[in-house]
Amino acid sequence: METVAAIAAVRARVSEWHHSGQRVAFVPTMGNLHAGHVSLIEMARRYGDRFVASLFVNPMQFGPNEDFAHYPRTPREDERMLRDAGCDLMFMPEVAEMYPNGAERATRIEVPGLSEVLCGAYRPGHFQGVATVVAKLFAIVLPDVAIFGEKDYQQLTVIRRMVLELCLPVEIIGAPTVREPDGLAMSSRNRYLSAEERRVAPRIHQELTRAVGALSAGSRDFAAIGQEGRNALAQAGFQPDYFEVREGSNLDPAQPDTRHFVVLTAARLGKARLIDNLQLRL
Ligand code: PAF
Repeated sequence: METVAAIAAVRARVSEWHHSGQRVAFVPTMGNLHAGHVSLIEMARRYGDRFVASLFVNPMQFGPNEDFAHYPRTPREDERMLRDAGCDLMFMPEVAEMYPNGAERATRIEVPGLSEVLCGAYRPGHFQGVATVVAKLFAIVLPDVAIFGEKDYQQLTVIRRMVLELCLPVEIIGAPTVREPDGLAMSSRNRYLSAEERRVAPRIHQELTRAVGALSAGSRDFAAIGQEGRNALAQAGFQPDYFEVREGSNLDPAQPDTRHFVVLTAARLGKARLIDNLQLRL
């Protein structure tokens, strides 16, 4: 595996592959890789002849009081995991390579509506930062296919919309969430949990499962399902931001005739803000 920090080096290598007719699969990450990322990487290998991963903690997607400075950075371990997973090229740029005029003054991509609900309401500017960096990474890597985890369901939906509306020639694949044996979705932010919080954290998955159970049993009282989820999480010691039933394709509020539901939640537990979701297709 080759590790490069320069945009020009990525372009040169990918252009060789494309010229020889090879298909390029891409997994963008912020590093601190875990089994959830490995599943994205394994999926990427099924879709391409060559596999590129990026490791970039993107300042533009962090709010002023968020954990950008403290976000876990483990580049040497990440490099080893990517090599073991059969990655061909790891792109690990500095902030100045990605934002030569500074992240604050950089050109931005806005996906309106979708970016302002759910997590977007609690993290203003977050999805603008995600859409911008992903569009830039696509312009640098020029992948044929890119893989994103379904755990960040709203992020995946924002990226699909951006790709559609900007006519970007890249296929977007969603990869299923990887969970610990007790149901907790794998996340780099799980490491912020104390031992006691880690014991409580799977409650998120239990409440999502209960909500999906109510929907599949025929309940269409979405407000009551959401309220019950928020109450249960609050009682267990979380500070829930939201717990909502939405339309799976566009995150609009669910309707009685919805056939693809997604139940999404974000809740704070100690220093960690955990997000998770479950889908139900009828
Ligand atoms: O999901 C992530 O790790 C990040 O939001 C992404 C897609 C790599 C963009 O920085």
